[in-house]
Amino acid sequence: MTLPKSVKIVEVGPRDGLQNEKALVASPIKAELIERLAAAGCRHIEATSFVSPQKIPQLADAAEVMKKIRRAPGVVYSALTPNLKGFDAAIAAGADEVAVFAAASETFSRKNINCSIDESLERFEPVLAAARQAGVRTRAYVSCALGCPYEGEIAPAAVALVAKKLFDMGCYEISLGDTIGIGTPPATKKMIAAVAEKIPLENLAGHFHDTYGMAAANVWVALEMGMAIFDSSVGGLGGCPFALGAAGNLATEDLVWLLSGSGVETGLDLQRLVDCGNWISAALGREPASRVARALKKG
Ligand code: HMG
Ligand code: MG
Repeated sequence: MTLPKSVKIVEVGPRDGLQNEKALVASPIKAELIERLAAAGCRHIEATSFVSPQKIPQLADAAEVMKKIRRAPGVVYSALTPNLKGFDAAIAAGADEVAVFAAASETFSRKNINCSIDESLERFEPVLAAARQAGVRTRAYVSCALGCPYEGEIAPAAVALVAKKLFDMGCYEISLGDTIGIGTPPATKKMIAAVAEKIPLENLAGHFHDTYGMAAANVWVALEMGMAIFDSSVGGLGGCPFALGAAGNLATEDLVWLLSGSGVETGLDLQRLVDCGNWISAALGREPASRVARALKKG
């Protein structure tokens, strides 16, 4: 078995993590979280979302947060943008990169972004055109890649179809989202194999929520298949308000523990990450969901 020598980690805590918090988190705390993540070695940070404030009130301060961040050199600060309005606002606020987000489930697409899958792809066309013109790279998500909170099982072929369309439209990286964290290693393997028939593996990322505690196992399967980009969330923060009951992403601390323990480089400093996860969890009034953070606290 040959594992990748190094892995790119996309830290999604400030966006995917905080979007699910009911109590409003102050903008300076959000900016400090992003700064602490950069100080721990994160080079790709999804900082916020430029979405409808009615849908995600927590991230209504996106522009303010972007403005507040004291930027570290070499760090890409990205933002989620569902449409051209979001894209324009993200670029005006200084986002280095943007991400569009589609789904492999029609029902989830409607609930999350109020349109069908095909309509969402049409909406992304002008975003991609504007991004090309501005020299900004666009990432894409495919939600419900391993199951949908409304439709249940999702066929790997359906995931592959949407992923391929997004890739052909010009998205350079396609993040496969197990939105509700329901996937198991065999299902993950099948889904990645179906997508990898259409898109090179090096353009694929794994985005595993950890609802059922399977995220690390799913990362392992993906790693064995040669995938080398993973999304994670410090402290295991997060979820999606349109996927009730879904837990946060795999904790970045746990991902780094898994990878460094397997001889795979991440460029991240585990202790600083743990400190960051403990700090934001305390600010939110809870223990970190990261098992590694809890173990190191006791030890
Ligand atoms: P809509 O209601 O169909 O859009 O929403 P609309 O164009 O009719 O606009 C409605 C209102 O929203 C208008 O305001 C617009 O101006 C405003 P009004 O005139 O009523 O005052 N609006 C905006 N405001 C700010 N920024 C914008 C924007 N666009 C419209 N960009 C829309 C469609 C997509 C905008 C909406 O449904 C939305 O914002 N959805 C976002 C939902 C979301 O953020 N979900 C969580 C992120 S996805 C996720 O977590 C999954 C992921 O992690 C992967 C995984 O785990 O699977 C990525
Ligand atoms: Mg997510």
